[in-house]
This record gives sequence, structure tokens and C-alpha cells, in this order.
Amino acid sequence: MTRMLVTGGAGFIGANFVHRTLAKRPEYEIRVLDALTYAGNLDNLRAVAGDIRFVHGDVCDQRLVDGLVAESDVVVHFAAESHVDNSLRDPAPFVRSNVQGTYVLLEAVRRHDRRLHHISTDEVFGDLGASAQGGFTERSRYDPSSPYSATKASADLLVRAWARSFGVAATLSNCANNYGPFQHAEKFIPRQVTNVLLGDRPKLYGSGRNIREWTHVDDHNDAVHLILDRGRIGEAYLIGSGCEVSNREVVESVLEVLGRPASWYETVPDRPGHDLRYATDSSKLRRELGWRPRYPDLRDGLSSTVNWYRENEWWWRPSKKEVEAGYRLMGR
Ligand code: NAD
Ligand code: DAU
Repeated sequence: MTRMLVTGGAGFIGANFVHRTLAKRPEYEIRVLDALTYAGNLDNLRAVAGDIRFVHGDVCDQRLVDGLVAESDVVVHFAAESHVDNSLRDPAPFVRSNVQGTYVLLEAVRRHDRRLHHISTDEVFGDLGASAQGGFTERSRYDPSSPYSATKASADLLVRAWARSFGVAATLSNCANNYGPFQHAEKFIPRQVTNVLLGDRPKLYGSGRNIREWTHVDDHNDAVHLILDRGRIGEAYLIGSGCEVSNREVVESVLEVLGRPASWYETVPDRPGHDLRYATDSSKLRRELGWRPRYPDLRDGLSSTVNWYRENEWWWRPSKKEVEAGYRLMGR
């Protein structure tokens, strides 16, 4: 058995990764380290609770992390503060968890000579703007716009430096926007779906012309497994479905799936510093590791995602009121 430590495994992508790994890769024995912040939820792991070891703790806790890394063969690092709007309200936990947390983990991995895969985002490359052709590549310049993406960029740079200077056996991946089950109600698609389910209109920031590349969470996690299996140490891989959609079109698709008129949304003030467009060129991942998205189009995975929220109101309802209260404070 290969002993795998998954940090942030009670969050959206991490929990889906745990589920998928248990279902498809029986050679892994999984332990999860998660601080259970507002975004971490043990209900995300309820169905597999008997199949994993869960440790409630902080990636910044050096002693705890050292012990867990020592007793693991491979570490997959999802733990982070992940929401841009929250980082605009209070960047402090982002600097701590995303930068300091990654540093603590890297030092433990270095001490015990373990394999690390670091999960990151395409947002580290900043804004592609309206006129840019194509997408980010692994060679794109780091140019983050928000406190969130600046802390993720910092973490990436630490990983790159530890790989090069200390020979840490690390890989990293930068994925585009994810969607799927267990995504917190604060994020764009779940916020709009849960609004409509409660009879409220979706809220579109600014013009709604901003573009994101929507990638199903299972496609993201399959790519992570390919990188763990065959990725080149010290390398970064971009992950993205190729499906670029404007926010307005996403809202219209959500409304269509839920049987409402396409114009049944309202616009709210824009996010400060709002990046216009992200897109990845994932040809390195496709060429070297044979990755292909099973959901190349948002519409392939949107209805099942919407259905998941429809059927699991018990899961999102407890956080919805607080999420909307936070947005009201931000005027969004
Ligand atoms: P999430 O907010 O849903 O989950 C984050 C998890 O990390 C939570 O369970 C939380 O409790 C845990 N956590 C936070 N701080 C911690 C700490 N100090 N110690 C231990 N655990 C801590 O986030 P997500 O959307 O699942 O994102 C997971 C990772 O993927 C992040 O690194 C994020 O930057 C990256 N990413 C996300 C997306 C996306 O679209 N959501 C896209 C690309 C990359
Ligand atoms: O690109 C990858 C990144 O995608 C990840 O690194 C982040 O962790 C993840 O949160 C996501 O960041 P975004 O800022 O792109 O995602 P968010 O869901 O917050 O918003 C998506 C788009 O929708 C963005 O252009 C802002 C807009 N939006 C968002 C909300 C919550 C709205 O128009 N209305 C909303 O209510």
C-alpha cells in the first residue's frame, strides 16, 4: 500500500479527490489533514469515513505536519483559503494558510524525502485581458491580481525553489475553474444554483462578460493522478477543459437547467480588480500524460451538478444564510 496524505481533503476538490482515489485506486491508504475552516466539512467525507484516517489540524502546525509526512509516502496538498472575494475582505488567513502552510509542508517533505504534488490555480498568471490569443502556458509569467492569487503564486514559487535547490520530489499543477458536487455555496455556480432553488435571482458581477474555463472536478482529479503516476519531477502542468464561457452564459445555462427564463438574473457591483479572462493551454498534460477531459463542455456536467444541489439541500442550506450575509456586506 502507498500511504497518501491529502491536505484540505474535507474541502470541495480535496474531498472529491479522496472519493475518486478510494473508488479507482485501491493501492492508496489515505489520511486527510484538514483544519475544518468554514470551507471544510466532514459531511463531504461522511460516505468514506470508515475508509480513511481523518486528522483535524492545521498545515501550519509544524509538529503535526512533520509526524504525518513522516508516516506517508506521498503528499497531495489541496489545503488553502480558496475564495477571491474573501481575500479582498481579509487577506490574513490567505497569507498564513497558503504561504506559511506550504512552507511548513515543504520543510517536512524535505526532511523526510517524500513525494509532493502541490495543487494550484491558473489565477497565478493574472488576467489574459480581452485581446490575448490562446491561453496561459507553463512558461507564462506569474502576475497575480488578488490577495488569493498572490498567495497561491507565492506558494508555487516556494515549491519550485524547494524542488530546484533542495531536490524535493515535487510536481505542481495549475487548474482552471472547477465545478461539481460539494462546492461551497460561496462560489459562482453553487451560489447561483442555490439562489434559484430558493426563488432568488442569480447575481452577476459587473458586465458578466468575464470569461472562465470550466473544468469538472473529476477531470481535475484524474489529471492529478496522472501527474502522480507519470509526471516529471520539478515540472508544472496546466489543467483545463478548454471550455471558455462568459459568466453571463453560465448564468443563462443554470437558469435553463432550472427551467427559468434566461434573463431572470440581476447585476450587482463588480469585484474590485476582477480579472477579465482566464484560459489554459493544457497541451503539455495532454501530450505527455494523455489526459483528456471527460467533460469537455460545461453543459456535459452542469445538469448533474445542478441536480446534486437540488437533491442535497441539507448539505448547502446551513451555510447559505451566512454566505449571503457576507455578500450583502460587500454590496454583491
Ligand atoms: P475549499 O475552500 O473548498 O477547500 C479548502 C480546504 O482546505 C477546506 O477543507 C479547509 O478546511 C482546508 N484548509 C484551509 N486552510 C487550512 C489550513 N491552514 N490547514 C488545514 N486545512 C486547511 O477549496 P477548493 O476549491 O477545494 O480548492 C482546493 C485547492 O485547489 C486550493 O489549493 C485551491 O487554490 C485550488 N484550486 C481551486 C480551484 C477551484 O476552482 N475551486 C481551481 C484551481 C485550483
Ligand atoms: O481559476 C481558478 C480559480 O477559480 C480558483 O483558483 C479559485 O479557488 C476559485 O474560487 C475560482 O476563482 P474565481 O474568482 O474565478 O471563482 P468565483 O466562483 O468566485 O467566480 C467565478 C466568476 O464569477 C468570476 O468572474 C466572478 C463571477 N461571480 C462570482 C460570484 C460569486 C459573479 O458574477 N457572481 C457571483 O455571485
